[in-house]
Amino acid sequence: MSPAPAPGRLHHLLQIEGLGRELLFQLLDTAESFLPVTQRAVKKVPLLRGKTVVNLFFEPSTRTRMTFELAAERLSADVFSLDVAHSSTKKGETLLDTLRNLEAMQMDLLVVRHPLSGAAAFFAAHAAPHVRVLNAGDGRHAHPTQALLDLFTIRRHRPDLGELRVAILGDVLHSRVARSQIAALRLAGVREIRVGGPRTLLPPALESLGVQVFDCVEQALADVDVIITLRLQQERMQGGHLPSTAEYFRRFGLTEQRLRRASPEAIVMHPGPINRGVEIASEVADGERSVILEQVSNGVAVRMAVMALALGAEPAPAEA
Ligand code: NCD
Repeated sequence: MSPAPAPGRLHHLLQIEGLGRELLFQLLDTAESFLPVTQRAVKKVPLLRGKTVVNLFFEPSTRTRMTFELAAERLSADVFSLDVAHSSTKKGETLLDTLRNLEAMQMDLLVVRHPLSGAAAFFAAHAAPHVRVLNAGDGRHAHPTQALLDLFTIRRHRPDLGELRVAILGDVLHSRVARSQIAALRLAGVREIRVGGPRTLLPPALESLGVQVFDCVEQALADVDVIITLRLQQERMQGGHLPSTAEYFRRFGLTEQRLRRASPEAIVMHPGPINRGVEIASEVADGERSVILEQVSNGVAVRMAVMALALGAEPAPAEA
């Protein structure tokens, strides 16, 4: 079992809730210091040399898995990604036995994505004291590093976080990303958080989180500074949520026409993968307000920051 974490320091990262404002901004500032590393000719610092990072992805992933891998490489860690589809999990090995075996290989940091909410917390609860666990998405529960890279991207465009109106559009019900984003935006003190989408895809009691709820996208978009679109997570739906994807796009999709409701300087975000013509029009996804690919680039620096701080390797200013 892991010991109680030291207050104010990053231990495991399972969710945004409970992080604390100071640590949130320390993570963002550390990511800022790593950003130049990810862009220069030699994209490496020796901070995690000798450490072993394991990526354990029980669900499909392109951006999250690759950027976690890259982040570990940029920090000079040894990193390997278990191909779960071809691992002993398929032969009935339990999560606990998988963990014990990875620990026997002297791993230091485990990055977990799993379809069950609470899976990352399970690993954290059973990990050896020196092992750190990072949640790369568990069921509908949380995706904290995505929320951090989203907040990081917002802050690079609009440092005046306390002034911002942010709209999160679409399938909030099935979105671990939205849950973590709302927690991060609240902790960062943004002025207004709105969610917009069909009632069938908005979880109950959102208002109790201090969020404004709209089932009319036009209203949700009025004068906002940041628009976050979400993928329609049809793999998590049992049916009955929607008439059709075409109808969804017609009523709720982010089109150029709807974008005009927002502030003229508004940025458009999406965690990916994008379903073009479902939650967002191609012209908007590829348009001049879109920062979607910047989110991906920033994901490397943010995940470097999370890994470095979780393993207690704080970068000296000269290393940035
Ligand atoms: C998200 C996820 O897997 O939670 N993707 C991501 O990590 N960038 C969102 C999604 O699948 O729609």
